[in-house]
Amino acid sequence: MAEDLVIATGSKEDQYKTLLPQISALLEGEPDLIANLANITGALKEQFNWLWIGFYRVKKDDLVLGPFQGPVACTRIKKGRGVCGKSWEEEKTLIVPDVEKFPGHIACSSLSRSEIVIPIFKDGEVVAVLDVDSESPDHFDETDKKYLEEIVKMVQF
Ligand code: SME
Repeated sequence: MAEDLVIATGSKEDQYKTLLPQISALLEGEPDLIANLANITGALKEQFNWLWIGFYRVKKDDLVLGPFQGPVACTRIKKGRGVCGKSWEEEKTLIVPDVEKFPGHIACSSLSRSEIVIPIFKDGEVVAVLDVDSESPDHFDETDKKYLEEIVKMVQF
């Protein structure tokens, strides 16, 4: 299988619409979770070139760093801490237009200005989160929420 990603131009929605079937094809028939999470971060990085894209997986009381693209990041986050821990605790997607105004935000990179975190569920429990950071303020919106939530549902945890 050719592994080259087709990079779309146009609106954000158009970009996601080109990317989603390609991510689905990348995951098809591959049962290994880490391989699949790694390819999702790679595909998102290639298409959008955001500052940081990565997964944190729930391990007991912590979120533990998983596959990612971007600068090195903190390895463990407690439930309720930072945007990731809040998304886990509240079991909902959080869009943060200005990270400096989010109480308790964990600054893994000083370049991050805005962020979106999507919780991932298995059997009704949060098992991981997808975290995306941008160097631009107010970068993420409901379109990102919609499509990133679709993408994480493609993964078999
Ligand atoms: N900013 C996140 C921490 C993870 S890094 O951005 C990669 C947070 O506040 O939870």
